[in-house]
Amino acid sequence: MITNIGIHESSAQTVAATLSKLLADEVVLYMKTRNAHWNVTGVDFHAKHKFFEEQYEALDEIMDSVAERIRSIGHFAPATLKTYLELTHLTEANRADNNSVGHIKELLADHENIIMFIRENVNPFAELKDFGSSDFITGLMETHEKMAWMLRAHL
Ligand SMILES: [Fe+2]
Repeated sequence: MITNIGIHESSAQTVAATLSKLLADEVVLYMKTRNAHWNVTGVDFHAKHKFFEEQYEALDEIMDSVAERIRSIGHFAPATLKTYLELTHLTEANRADNNSVGHIKELLADHENIIMFIRENVNPFAELKDFGSSDFITGLMETHEKMAWMLRAHL
């Protein structure tokens, strides 16, 4: 069934390709935040264990919303780990130590990377007449900015 919502097909394809990269970043960041939740050690263990849980729960909702935005403009969301690793801008980390500051610095850098990627695409999405996706990622950017502040405040 054709998605007839006033966005040119090639425009929707361009937006979907960018949103797919964003989805890959969100999935990798979700897994890295899970890693922090599971493996963090130190005198601040309990507080950070809970904090990382709040963050990965937020990322779970974000992943779902990005995938469903891709569906809303008539495309399929990538949904294999192999594809995510091919699409992501982020690198998976293999931490040698598991203190909270190390995890926080790395997660913060990833949030900032995502924020900059989103910011670059707010106007291009609007120029393609996909005002919905432009507005959607603007809201997402604000969510990441708040999450980044929460991480930064620990440092
Ligand atoms: Fe848990």
